[in-house]
Amino acid sequence: MVTNYIEEKEYFVMEKRKIFLLPGDGVGIEVMRETEKIIHYMRDSLGYNFVCEKGRVGGAAYNVCRRPISEEDISRALSADAVLLGAVGGPEWETVPYHLRPEAGLLRLRKSLQLFANLRPVICYPSLVNSSSLKSSLIRGLDIMIVRELTGGIYFGEPKKIMDLGEGQTRAIDTQVYETYEIERIAHVAFKLARLRRCHVTSMDKRNVMRTGFLWNQTVTSIHAAHYNEEIRLKHILADAGAMELVRKPQQFDVIVTDNLFGDILSDMAAALTGSLGLLPSASLGDHNEAKGTWCRAIYEPVHGSAPDIAGKGIVNPIAMIASLAMCFRYSFGMNKEAFELEKAISTVLDDGLRTKDIYSEGTQKVSTREMGEAILSQFKKGIS
Ligand code: IPM
Ligand code: MN
Repeated sequence: MVTNYIEEKEYFVMEKRKIFLLPGDGVGIEVMRETEKIIHYMRDSLGYNFVCEKGRVGGAAYNVCRRPISEEDISRALSADAVLLGAVGGPEWETVPYHLRPEAGLLRLRKSLQLFANLRPVICYPSLVNSSSLKSSLIRGLDIMIVRELTGGIYFGEPKKIMDLGEGQTRAIDTQVYETYEIERIAHVAFKLARLRRCHVTSMDKRNVMRTGFLWNQTVTSIHAAHYNEEIRLKHILADAGAMELVRKPQQFDVIVTDNLFGDILSDMAAALTGSLGLLPSASLGDHNEAKGTWCRAIYEPVHGSAPDIAGKGIVNPIAMIASLAMCFRYSFGMNKEAFELEKAISTVLDDGLRTKDIYSEGTQKVSTREMGEAILSQFKKGIS
């Protein structure tokens, strides 16, 4: 047994992993800095074969090459084992042409890497149970996985345009489009995840007003009937009622599967339930390597944005970005122990009473981004070595 463990550990340590870092804009830069310290420690002190490269996305790229991401950085993302991304956007780029805005860089990346499945785990850390705007009894032990479709729907549907109609009138069009295969593959991801959890999937759509909602509902139902009927409980709920249920009684959910736009909105809302948007990570995944049990391409990023109002002040919470690295260990590298230890380090530091400004309350210790990052790293060191 001991030998097996050592061999397994050696394998994980030795295998080369190319990590492409895209800090992006605003607080993205600060949270990435703390996350890099963990990667560097593992590489330099524990011998993990991590090879890091850094690129630019969003406004940071626009300022240098007049595009929200360069072709070269797209290729580097395509050839990496995993991409870590901070955040994009900010008021500085509000007037740049629509197709060159910072967000377009992120959307282009998701589409180029074909990352159709966005996993947003919503968990409540035990020591933050009083930080939520909801009663603590409603969020204690909260553990939801939101599975958001990420490369289809209204984000990418054509036509997408704006037209001058004259006489001071403008017409803007966005198009919500889904095809069966897009819904099928995201449904499979949701059902397979549910299998490893509490075996309950809730699908959210607006079939009462949208044709895409009707197809969504029908497709999820038939995938369930054909493959998961025995083991997984499936429930459908209209997205508006689902939003209401999420704040009314969030613990009723296990896995939620929904489209690109609803997933965007519902995940911000669910994140806030846990006390702060600064806590929640995400994984955007493409094809799965069945043999290895890991994902071939992926981007890991916090659910929060670039938060220009607090950028550069050293007060942003780095937990969402660091927890995104833990997801990278688990989903891209198959390093479950490392993921577990990093998540445990975050939880322990919170138990010890350390708080960045967003989660500070009386009786706890207010710390900077750097202090939070370093406290998590030193806890992680204890657990991993
Ligand atoms: C997110 C963000 C992005 C999205 C923006 C920055 C394009 O809000 O990842 O949730 O809408 O998908
Ligand atoms: Mn969002």
